[in-house]
Amino acid sequence: MTRITVTVDGVRYDDDVEPRTLLVHHLREQLGKIGTVVGCDTSNCGACTVLMSGPDGRLVSVKSCSVLAVQADGREVVTIEGLAGPDNTLHPVQQAFHDRHAVQCGFCTPGMILSAVDLLTENADPSDAEIREGLEGNLCRCTGYQNIIRAVRDAAATMRARKQSAAPTEPTVEAGEGRTPDDGPPREHVPPEAIPQPVP
Ligand code: FES
Ligand code: FES
Repeated sequence: MTRITVTVDGVRYDDDVEPRTLLVHHLREQLGKIGTVVGCDTSNCGACTVLMSGPDGRLVSVKSCSVLAVQADGREVVTIEGLAGPDNTLHPVQQAFHDRHAVQCGFCTPGMILSAVDLLTENADPSDAEIREGLEGNLCRCTGYQNIIRAVRDAAATMRARKQSAAPTEPTVEAGEGRTPDDGPPREHVPPEAIPQPVP
């Protein structure tokens, strides 16, 4: 057994695992994260996709059936169960999948959504071809993919709009703002015509 520490969906877990345990089995069987599902166990379907931090701390999508639990030691993992906000507001990708009916049986959906989140982190405005390429490691037997593509496109637009509205605006300096006590009281604006002119 090997002791590992993994932060999953914002919670730190210390566990003993066998060196051969796959991350997906650790998540499901030891941590109860059953939103992460196993479709093939051979790294083909993408159903088990989660986000995991790399050495630089950046979260990227990985197929958790192709990662050993010991490889996640010291890393952060986000599953579909930790993607919503603290007040349970759905992530824009989750919301778009719901709104676009991009789900039928739902088996591929957790992995599809987390791969889409990774794609949109890399590329905020992907073309349809880029979305298809970004999700090529995730298989869906039900939807025909059209609504999944539309959902990712919608989510990208929502995320771009949010980013734009959160961007800081040009700072404006109000009268008196930024003055120090040494500057004395703010001077009133005096129109040029009111300034006494020297007597010729
Ligand atoms: Fe199919 Fe992991 S379960 S890729
Ligand atoms: Fe059924 Fe994708 S919705 S496999």
